[in-house]
Amino acid sequence: AIERTLSIIKPDATKRNLTGKIVAKFEDAGLRVVASKRIHLTPAQAGEFYAEHKERGFYGELVAYMASEPVVVQVLEGEGAIAKNREVMGATDPAAAAEGTIRKEFALSKGENSVHGSDSPASAAREIAFFFSGLELVG
Ligand code: CMP
Repeated sequence: AIERTLSIIKPDATKRNLTGKIVAKFEDAGLRVVASKRIHLTPAQAGEFYAEHKERGFYGELVAYMASEPVVVQVLEGEGAIAKNREVMGATDPAAAAEGTIRKEFALSKGENSVHGSDSPASAAREIAFFFSGLELVG
């Protein structure tokens, strides 16, 4: 089925000017950018976005990091977009990521791992609505 998923190009990647190279990998895999913006999250916004990780030891670090520099948030559309996006990203830990994936090529660590992608249809719906209004999604 045609799906939509929420992608974030994280601070470590925007800072190193990797936005275009990362978007090219998604586009080459058949995903289409149907919404896109560059924003600088406040710690409160980053904390709310990652609320499900509140109890994890890395939560404070994650929130501070995501608010440290601008990010690019995008909605990607395509056949099986949620799984495809995760395949192109590679494993959370760059040391475990497969050859050719974004995290293998660009990520610095488990935390500074260059990209985020929704992990299920329910997360995709919540995460897209967190950043975009319906009017901003242009298929
Ligand atoms: P993401 O897909 O954005 O969702 C949650 C994030 O938490 C994850 O990517 C990682 O960047 C981050 N994360 C997971 N494990 C760790 C860890 N051990 N230390 C720091 N950050 C982590």
